[in-house]
Amino acid sequence: MTRYDILTKELKAKQSAWLVTGVAGFIGSNLLETLLKLNQQVVGLDNFSTGHQYNLEEVHGLVTKEQWENFTLIKGDICNIATCHQACQGVDYVLHQAALGSVPRSIEDPALTNENNISGFLNILIAARDAKVKRFVYAASSSTYGDHPDLPKQEAHIGAPLSPYAVTKLVNELYADVFAKTYDFKTIGLRYFNIFGQRQDPNGAYAAVIPKWFAALLSGEDSYINGDGKTSRDFCFIDNCVQANLLAATAQSENAVNQVYNVAFGERTTLTKLHELIKARVEQSQEKNGDSQLIYHDFRAGDVRHSLADISKAEILLGYSPRFSIEEGLNKAAEWYTKNLL
Ligand SMILES: NC(=O)c1ccc[n+]([C@@H]2O[C@H](COP(=O)([O-])OP(=O)(O)OC[C@H]3O[C@@H](n4cnc5c(N)ncnc54)[C@H](O)[C@@H]3O)[C@@H](O)[C@H]2O)c1
Repeated sequence: MTRYDILTKELKAKQSAWLVTGVAGFIGSNLLETLLKLNQQVVGLDNFSTGHQYNLEEVHGLVTKEQWENFTLIKGDICNIATCHQACQGVDYVLHQAALGSVPRSIEDPALTNENNISGFLNILIAARDAKVKRFVYAASSSTYGDHPDLPKQEAHIGAPLSPYAVTKLVNELYADVFAKTYDFKTIGLRYFNIFGQRQDPNGAYAAVIPKWFAALLSGEDSYINGDGKTSRDFCFIDNCVQANLLAATAQSENAVNQVYNVAFGERTTLTKLHELIKARVEQSQEKNGDSQLIYHDFRAGDVRHSLADISKAEILLGYSPRFSIEEGLNKAAEWYTKNLL
C-alpha cells in the first residue's frame, strides 16, 4: 500500500476544507474532482480567463449530489486581495493553481503574466497567511530550471529563466520561501513538468502540445512541431499531479515542508515519439485518419531544449509514487479526447 492509498483512506474518513484556485482550469478541475470524490469540502476560485464552466459541469456529472454540495464557487480574481481574503476564510489547505500559463503568452504580454502570476500570487499568499491555513501548496514550474544544462533536473540546481513566465514562477518560489522564514508559514511548491490529461484545453493560441495534437489528429488536420522533433519533455499524467498535491498538503514531516519538488514521471520523450504515440491511439479509436501531415517549424523562443526530472526528492519526502506512465496516461487522455472532441 502506498502513502497515497493510506492518505485517500484517511481523507475519506475525515473532512477538511480546501481552497483550489484556478478551479475551472485543467489541473484545478481535476483536483476538485478528486477532492469531492474523497468527500472533502472545496471552495473554488476562478476568474474564467482560461478556465471553463464546462469543466466544472463535467466534474458535477462525475460526483454524487451530496459531494457536489460540498463545493462552493467564487467567481473572482486573485488580483483582488479582498476576494482572496474571502476565499481563504476557514480553509485548512490551499492548492494554488490560478495563473496565466504559456511561455509564448508571457513573451507577448509580460505585464499581464506578471500581474496574474506575481501580484495575484502575493495576494493569495498574504490571504492564506492571514487566514492561518495549515499548508499553502502552489503550482511552480519546470521552467524554473531555465538554462541549467544538467539532466535529470534536481531541485537544488536551477539556471537563469528563459522567459517572463519562468521569471514569475521563480519569484513565486522566492516569495513562498521568504514567507516561510518571516512568518513561520508552511508552503510547498510543486514544479510541474508538462502535465497532461482530461480537460486540458486543446483550443487557443497557447494550447499545450498534447491536446493540440489530439485535436489535430482526431479531425484529420496537420500537426506542427516546433524545431527538429528531438526536443524532449518529461510528460506527466494528471493523476500523478493530483497525488503530489494531496501528499504535499498533508505531509507531516518538518523536513518535507517549505520545500519545492519536481512533479513528473521521470522519463523523457521526444516530440517526434510523442506524436507517434498519440497518432497510434487516434488510429485505434477511428477508422479513417486522413493523410494529415506532421510539419516541422522553427524552434520557439524561450523553450527549454530537454527536460527530465529527478523525482527522488518527492518520492523520499512526500511518498510520491506516480501511478501512470506516459503511455498509460495517453490511453486515458485518448479516451477522453475521442469522447469529447469527435
Ligand atoms: N499544465 C502544465 O503542464 C503546467 C506546467 C507547469 C506549471 N503549470 C501551472 O499549473 C497551474 C494550472 O495550470 P493549468 O494547466 O491547469 O492551466 P489552466 O489555464 O487550465 O488553468 C488556470 C486556471 O486559473 C484561472 N486563472 C488565471 N488567472 C486567474 C486570476 N487572476 N484569478 C483567478 N483565476 C485565474 C484560469 O481561468 C484557469 O481556470 C498554473 O499555475 C500553471 O502555471 C502547469
